[in-house]
Amino acid sequence: MDANEPIVIAVPKGRILKELRPLLDAAGVEPEAAFDDGGARQLRFACAEPGVEIVRVRSFDVATFVAFGGAQLGVAGNDVLMEFDYPEIYAPLDLDIGHCRLAVAAPQDLALTDDPRTWSHVRIATKYPRLTRRHFAARGVQAECISLSGAMELAPSLGLCRRIVDLVSSGDTLRANGLVEIEEIARISSRLIVNRAAMKTRPGRLGALVDRFEAALDAA
Ligand code: PRP
Repeated sequence: MDANEPIVIAVPKGRILKELRPLLDAAGVEPEAAFDDGGARQLRFACAEPGVEIVRVRSFDVATFVAFGGAQLGVAGNDVLMEFDYPEIYAPLDLDIGHCRLAVAAPQDLALTDDPRTWSHVRIATKYPRLTRRHFAARGVQAECISLSGAMELAPSLGLCRRIVDLVSSGDTLRANGLVEIEEIARISSRLIVNRAAMKTRPGRLGALVDRFEAALDAA
Protein backbone atom coordinates (compact mmCIF):
# COMPACT_ATOMS: atom_id res chain seq x y z
CA MET A 1 0.00 0.00 0.00
CA ASP A 2 1.32 3.42 -1.04
CA ALA A 3 2.27 5.57 1.95
CA ASN A 4 0.51 8.56 0.35
CA GLU A 5 -2.84 6.81 0.07
CA PRO A 6 -5.32 7.67 2.80
CA ILE A 7 -5.90 5.21 5.61
CA VAL A 8 -9.55 4.15 5.47
CA ILE A 9 -11.56 3.25 8.58
CA ALA A 10 -14.82 1.36 7.90
CA VAL A 11 -17.56 1.88 10.48
CA PRO A 12 -21.03 0.31 10.68
CA LYS A 13 -24.25 2.22 10.13
CA GLY A 14 -27.11 1.88 12.54
CA ARG A 15 -27.31 1.23 16.25
CA ILE A 16 -23.61 0.70 16.95
CA LEU A 17 -22.70 4.00 15.39
CA LYS A 18 -24.37 5.93 18.22
CA GLU A 19 -22.12 4.18 20.73
CA LEU A 20 -19.07 4.39 18.49
CA ARG A 21 -19.34 8.08 17.64
CA PRO A 22 -17.85 9.46 20.92
CA LEU A 23 -14.99 6.98 20.64
CA LEU A 24 -14.10 8.27 17.16
CA ASP A 25 -13.85 11.78 18.59
CA ALA A 26 -11.79 10.61 21.56
CA ALA A 27 -9.41 8.73 19.26
CA GLY A 28 -8.80 11.92 17.26
CA VAL A 29 -10.64 10.78 14.13
CA GLU A 30 -13.75 12.95 14.48
CA PRO A 31 -15.51 12.80 11.12
CA GLU A 32 -16.46 15.92 9.15
CA ALA A 33 -19.93 17.36 9.89
CA ALA A 34 -21.65 15.65 6.93
CA PHE A 35 -21.05 12.27 8.61
CA ASP A 36 -23.74 13.00 11.21
CA ASP A 37 -26.35 13.78 8.58
CA GLY A 38 -28.05 10.38 8.47
CA GLY A 39 -29.99 11.23 5.31
CA ALA A 40 -26.95 12.21 3.24
CA ARG A 41 -25.86 9.91 0.41
CA GLN A 42 -22.18 10.61 0.94
CA LEU A 43 -20.29 7.46 2.01
CA ARG A 44 -16.67 8.70 2.38
CA PHE A 45 -15.76 11.31 4.94
CA ALA A 46 -12.67 13.25 5.87
CA CYS A 47 -11.83 13.33 9.57
CA ALA A 48 -9.83 15.33 12.10
CA GLU A 49 -6.70 13.33 11.31
CA PRO A 50 -5.10 14.29 7.98
CA GLY A 51 -4.68 11.34 5.63
CA VAL A 52 -7.44 9.32 7.28
CA GLU A 53 -10.92 8.77 5.81
CA ILE A 54 -13.98 7.18 7.35
CA VAL A 55 -16.47 5.13 5.32
CA ARG A 56 -19.92 4.14 6.56
CA VAL A 57 -21.15 0.70 5.45
CA ARG A 58 -23.51 -2.06 6.59
CA SER A 59 -22.26 -3.80 9.69
CA PHE A 60 -21.94 -7.11 7.83
CA ASP A 61 -19.82 -5.47 5.14
CA VAL A 62 -17.23 -3.84 7.41
CA ALA A 63 -15.29 -7.10 7.69
CA THR A 64 -15.38 -7.62 3.92
CA PHE A 65 -14.08 -4.12 3.16
CA VAL A 66 -11.23 -4.67 5.64
CA ALA A 67 -10.45 -8.25 4.53
CA PHE A 68 -10.12 -7.18 0.89
CA GLY A 69 -7.94 -4.19 1.80
CA GLY A 70 -10.42 -1.46 0.78
CA ALA A 71 -10.27 -0.29 4.37
CA GLN A 72 -7.29 -0.88 6.66
CA LEU A 73 -9.18 -0.50 9.93
CA GLY A 74 -12.79 -1.15 10.88
CA VAL A 75 -15.27 -1.75 13.64
CA ALA A 76 -17.09 -5.08 13.56
CA GLY A 77 -18.95 -7.32 15.97
CA ASN A 78 -17.48 -10.72 16.73
CA ASP A 79 -20.71 -12.18 15.29
CA VAL A 80 -19.65 -10.90 11.86
CA LEU A 81 -16.03 -11.96 12.43
CA MET A 82 -17.11 -15.48 13.38
CA GLU A 83 -19.44 -15.73 10.39
CA PHE A 84 -16.80 -14.79 7.82
CA ASP A 85 -13.69 -16.00 9.64
CA TYR A 86 -11.43 -14.01 7.31
CA PRO A 87 -7.76 -14.92 7.85
CA GLU A 88 -6.74 -11.46 6.58
CA ILE A 89 -8.27 -9.77 9.64
CA TYR A 90 -7.12 -9.53 13.19
CA ALA A 91 -9.02 -7.91 16.01
CA PRO A 92 -6.64 -6.37 18.55
CA LEU A 93 -9.14 -4.42 20.64
CA ASP A 94 -12.54 -5.05 22.23
CA LEU A 95 -14.24 -1.64 22.10
CA ASP A 96 -16.72 -2.50 24.86
CA ILE A 97 -19.70 -1.32 22.78
CA GLY A 98 -22.46 -3.12 20.88
CA HIS A 99 -23.00 -5.65 23.63
CA CYS A 100 -25.58 -8.30 22.85
CA ARG A 101 -25.71 -12.06 22.40
CA LEU A 102 -26.17 -14.46 19.56
CA ALA A 103 -28.86 -16.96 20.45
CA VAL A 104 -31.11 -19.74 19.22
CA ALA A 105 -34.79 -18.86 19.68
CA ALA A 106 -38.05 -20.69 19.14
CA PRO A 107 -41.78 -20.16 19.71
CA GLN A 108 -42.70 -20.31 23.39
CA ASP A 109 -44.81 -23.50 23.11
CA LEU A 110 -42.05 -25.37 21.30
CA ALA A 111 -39.43 -24.16 23.78
CA LEU A 112 -41.36 -25.70 26.68
CA THR A 113 -41.09 -29.23 25.26
CA ASP A 114 -37.98 -28.94 23.10
CA ASP A 115 -34.91 -30.90 24.20
CA PRO A 116 -31.85 -29.81 22.17
CA ARG A 117 -30.04 -33.03 23.24
CA THR A 118 -32.39 -35.07 21.04
CA TRP A 119 -31.81 -33.08 17.84
CA SER A 120 -30.04 -34.68 14.88
CA HIS A 121 -31.22 -32.22 12.25
CA VAL A 122 -32.63 -28.70 12.64
CA ARG A 123 -33.86 -26.12 10.17
CA ILE A 124 -32.94 -22.57 11.15
CA ALA A 125 -33.56 -19.12 9.68
CA THR A 126 -30.57 -16.85 10.17
CA LYS A 127 -28.19 -14.36 8.65
CA TYR A 128 -25.33 -16.41 10.12
CA PRO A 129 -25.51 -19.68 8.13
CA ARG A 130 -21.84 -20.62 8.42
CA LEU A 131 -21.57 -19.86 12.10
CA THR A 132 -24.84 -21.68 12.78
CA ARG A 133 -23.77 -24.79 10.86
CA ARG A 134 -20.42 -24.84 12.68
CA HIS A 135 -22.07 -24.40 16.07
CA PHE A 136 -24.44 -27.32 15.60
CA ALA A 137 -21.96 -29.53 13.75
CA ALA A 138 -19.67 -29.34 16.78
CA ARG A 139 -22.21 -31.38 18.68
CA GLY A 140 -23.23 -33.66 15.87
CA VAL A 141 -26.35 -31.82 14.75
CA GLN A 142 -26.86 -30.99 11.10
CA ALA A 143 -28.26 -27.46 10.70
CA GLU A 144 -30.09 -26.68 7.50
CA CYS A 145 -30.04 -22.88 7.26
CA ILE A 146 -32.49 -20.61 5.51
CA SER A 147 -30.58 -17.38 4.87
CA LEU A 148 -32.41 -14.15 5.57
CA SER A 149 -30.88 -10.71 5.98
CA GLY A 150 -33.44 -9.36 8.44
CA ALA A 151 -36.78 -9.97 10.16
CA MET A 152 -35.75 -13.54 11.07
CA GLU A 153 -38.31 -13.37 13.87
CA LEU A 154 -41.08 -13.74 11.27
CA ALA A 155 -39.84 -17.08 10.00
CA PRO A 156 -41.45 -19.34 12.65
CA SER A 157 -44.90 -17.71 12.50
CA LEU A 158 -44.89 -17.77 8.71
CA GLY A 159 -43.93 -21.43 8.61
CA LEU A 160 -40.40 -21.25 7.17
CA CYS A 161 -38.93 -23.14 10.11
CA ARG A 162 -39.42 -23.40 13.86
CA ARG A 163 -36.13 -21.98 15.11
CA ILE A 164 -33.96 -18.93 14.40
CA VAL A 165 -30.44 -17.79 15.24
CA ASP A 166 -30.19 -14.04 15.72
CA LEU A 167 -28.81 -11.25 17.87
CA VAL A 168 -30.66 -10.53 21.08
CA SER A 169 -30.15 -7.33 23.01
CA SER A 170 -33.13 -6.25 25.13
CA GLY A 171 -35.18 -9.30 24.05
CA ASP A 172 -38.03 -7.01 22.92
CA THR A 173 -38.03 -8.27 19.32
CA LEU A 174 -38.26 -11.91 20.41
CA ARG A 175 -41.04 -11.16 22.91
CA ALA A 176 -43.02 -9.11 20.41
CA ASN A 177 -42.97 -12.09 18.06
CA GLY A 178 -43.83 -14.82 20.58
CA LEU A 179 -40.32 -16.27 20.66
CA VAL A 180 -38.04 -17.20 23.56
CA GLU A 181 -34.30 -17.73 23.73
CA ILE A 182 -33.40 -21.40 24.08
CA GLU A 183 -29.61 -21.29 23.86
CA GLU A 184 -26.89 -18.65 23.91
CA ILE A 185 -24.25 -19.25 21.23
CA ALA A 186 -21.90 -16.34 21.97
CA ARG A 187 -21.52 -13.03 23.78
CA ILE A 188 -21.07 -10.25 21.25
CA SER A 189 -19.31 -6.89 21.34
CA SER A 190 -17.67 -4.68 18.72
CA ARG A 191 -13.96 -5.00 17.99
CA LEU A 192 -11.44 -2.76 16.27
CA ILE A 193 -10.25 -4.79 13.29
CA VAL A 194 -7.13 -4.45 11.17
CA ASN A 195 -6.06 -5.77 7.77
CA ARG A 196 -2.94 -7.87 8.47
CA ALA A 197 -1.14 -7.03 5.21
CA ALA A 198 -1.71 -3.28 5.71
CA MET A 199 -0.31 -3.56 9.24
CA LYS A 200 2.87 -5.02 7.74
CA THR A 201 3.26 -2.30 5.11
CA ARG A 202 2.28 0.69 7.27
CA PRO A 203 2.93 -0.43 10.85
CA GLY A 204 3.74 3.04 12.20
CA ARG A 205 0.61 4.78 10.99
CA LEU A 206 -1.81 1.94 11.73
CA GLY A 207 -0.19 1.04 15.03
CA ALA A 208 -0.53 4.66 16.16
CA LEU A 209 -4.24 4.66 15.29
CA VAL A 210 -4.83 1.40 17.19
CA ASP A 211 -2.97 2.92 20.16
CA ARG A 212 -5.22 5.98 20.03
CA PHE A 213 -8.36 3.86 20.17
CA GLU A 214 -6.86 1.97 23.10
CA ALA A 215 -6.04 5.22 24.92
CA ALA A 216 -9.57 6.54 24.22
CA LEU A 217 -11.01 3.37 25.76
CA ASP A 218 -8.78 3.66 28.83
CA ALA A 219 -9.85 7.27 29.30
CA ALA A 220 -13.59 6.50 28.90
C1 PRP B 1 -31.22 -6.73 15.67
C2 PRP B 1 -31.50 -8.21 15.65
C3 PRP B 1 -32.88 -8.32 16.27
C4 PRP B 1 -32.92 -7.14 17.22
C5 PRP B 1 -32.70 -7.58 18.63
O1 PRP B 1 -31.74 -6.14 14.54
O2 PRP B 1 -31.43 -8.75 14.35
O3 PRP B 1 -33.89 -8.25 15.31
O4 PRP B 1 -31.86 -6.25 16.85
O5 PRP B 1 -32.72 -6.51 19.54
P1 PRP B 1 -33.65 -6.53 20.83
O6 PRP B 1 -33.39 -7.82 21.56
O7 PRP B 1 -33.22 -5.33 21.63
O8 PRP B 1 -35.08 -6.41 20.38
P2 PRP B 1 -31.49 -4.58 14.23
O9 PRP B 1 -32.55 -3.77 14.83
O10 PRP B 1 -30.08 -4.21 14.63
O11 PRP B 1 -31.66 -4.50 12.68
P3 PRP B 1 -31.32 -5.53 11.52
O12 PRP B 1 -32.52 -6.44 11.45
O13 PRP B 1 -31.17 -4.67 10.34
O14 PRP B 1 -30.09 -6.27 11.88
